Amino acid sequence: MCGIVGYIGNSSAITPVIEGLEALEYRGYDSAGITTISDKKTLTIKQIGRVDSLKPAIDQDGDKTAKLAIGHTRWATHGVPSNTNAHPHQNTSGTIFVVHNGIIENYQTLRAMLKKDGYKFVSETDTEVIPNLIDYFLKAEKDFFSAFKLAIKELEGAYAIAAVYANDPDSIFVARLSSPLVIGVGESAHYVASDATAIMQHTKKVVYLNDYEVAVVKKAKVHIEDLRANINTSREAQELEHDLETAELGQYEHFMAKEIDEGPQTIQSASRGRLRLDGNIVKLGGLESVEAQLKYIDRIVIVACGTSYYAGLVGEYLIEEIAGIPVEVELASEFKYRHEPFSRSTALLAISQSGETADTIAALKKVEDYGVLRLGVVNAVGSTIARMTDAGVYCHAGPERSVASTKAFLAQVTVLAEIALYLSQGRSLLYKPVLKELLQLPDKLKTVLEQAEKIEALAKKYRHYRDFLYIGRGYAYPSALEGALKLKELSYIHAEAFAAGEMKHGPLALIDEHFPTFALIPDGDLLEKTLSNVQEIKARSGPVIAIATKGNKSVARLADDVIYIPPSLEQLQPLLMVPVMQLFAYYVTVHKQLDVDKPRNLAKSVTVE
Ligand code: F6R
Repeated sequence: MCGIVGYIGNSSAITPVIEGLEALEYRGYDSAGITTISDKKTLTIKQIGRVDSLKPAIDQDGDKTAKLAIGHTRWATHGVPSNTNAHPHQNTSGTIFVVHNGIIENYQTLRAMLKKDGYKFVSETDTEVIPNLIDYFLKAEKDFFSAFKLAIKELEGAYAIAAVYANDPDSIFVARLSSPLVIGVGESAHYVASDATAIMQHTKKVVYLNDYEVAVVKKAKVHIEDLRANINTSREAQELEHDLETAELGQYEHFMAKEIDEGPQTIQSASRGRLRLDGNIVKLGGLESVEAQLKYIDRIVIVACGTSYYAGLVGEYLIEEIAGIPVEVELASEFKYRHEPFSRSTALLAISQSGETADTIAALKKVEDYGVLRLGVVNAVGSTIARMTDAGVYCHAGPERSVASTKAFLAQVTVLAEIALYLSQGRSLLYKPVLKELLQLPDKLKTVLEQAEKIEALAKKYRHYRDFLYIGRGYAYPSALEGALKLKELSYIHAEAFAAGEMKHGPLALIDEHFPTFALIPDGDLLEKTLSNVQEIKARSGPVIAIATKGNKSVARLADDVIYIPPSLEQLQPLLMVPVMQLFAYYVTVHKQLDVDKPRNLAKSVTVE
């Protein structure tokens, strides 16, 4: 989704801002732009398309002497992707420039009010009201920051905003509400960004802005105020943990291929220091501060979106089976509008790779005043969800750049298995076997990934189909849901998943020779049941690709094609089956010559509702 980058310092501002925008490209966008200010000279260059296509215009006309710049990548919400709708936006007289992520919900009222006052609007965006509103207040206020704050107070919705003023080439003004904004502390310079990825090649020292905070960012200092409390706030910069190298493509053609390949080390990183075979210890430092509260928890509600939601469904099975605590998993977008009973002995557990998903944040906010324990399973360190939860367990998967989530799913499921073990306090019969198996999984996953060529051949064979069904039972059911999501979001093939037991209740009607099924049939208690479903599909001429456990003979007799995973515990099979489906979706997409890392209409971090 939209990205913000800004620089104020001693060097030319264009380079760090363009580099920052490029680092944010993975989030998905349709247009880009930059405004520079130097000695009251302002210059905006913006257009539809990739950051790369801005460069010729910047090389030719850009103000390389400017030491201040703000830039933006836009993912259209209000108004089509176009040069006019691209950010930065300016006020009618062209002195105030704004980049904005999020949605201003009351923009129509503000726009109508400003129009009556003579302001002219050129774009269809909600953002354009912001520079004009600041201008409106500036008429009566003595300084820009006061006008900026008054304007921000009028805005409803979600926003991260960076504004600059032609008459003040030494300051960037920023504000946030429900949309991330980080300030980077450099050598004689400061950076602002909507995602630390944009600035981590320049500095690892950052200050995260909180909701309702505004700041004036100058070359050598940052002044932060809390708009609600009306007080100045200050806080120490913190160190970013992520290693920049892990966010580089290296030898790979696509980030998705790299991130799938990182699966084994992802499971390892999510377990490092947490699982100890000697003594059978599960140590989750992030939950220790709430250990006493956890003893009184008799229900857990998991909230998440997309892939994280499917990881949550695996988590539901794991926590219920291993720890014996009832779990419900809710789509964050539904949860926030529901009116369900909620007692204090319920804990809310938010799962998010980015830690910035608007719906998941809203779900956490909804229970803010309930006095319930709010937990997080988050990948992005220091992100909004990581900071707004009472306690949690980081995924440690490193930056995930491809829009489609892959390694984050593995990290989330690993962490959820660890949470299940932790909550069981060693009482479950599954405690030792699961702990032991988690430590062996990285090597088992390596043998799955070694079959990439075979999976690619299957992808080539099946890429022309228009529809796909994914089925599974037990732990294989949420895995099937995730497999179907991967295929549809990347290859644009219609794919949907069903619990295999549901086939006779409707989906079987779809099956014919043109409608293939991806059947997840690993060894376990439910093997025979799923095999019967596959039999019914074959009886109706449906092509079947199966995932089965190595050594199994019965699946191969039925299915057209089989990929084998090593024997493992049912509870952890998702960690071996999902990568097979990730690779399948990856290769189908590559052979359909589509953009694997940036599927159409999607964004990496969904920061609006
Ligand atoms: C799918 C995908 C999305 C995300 C979802 C939640 O491949 O990546 O479905 O899982 O947008 O994002 P996070 O985990 O960042 O909250």
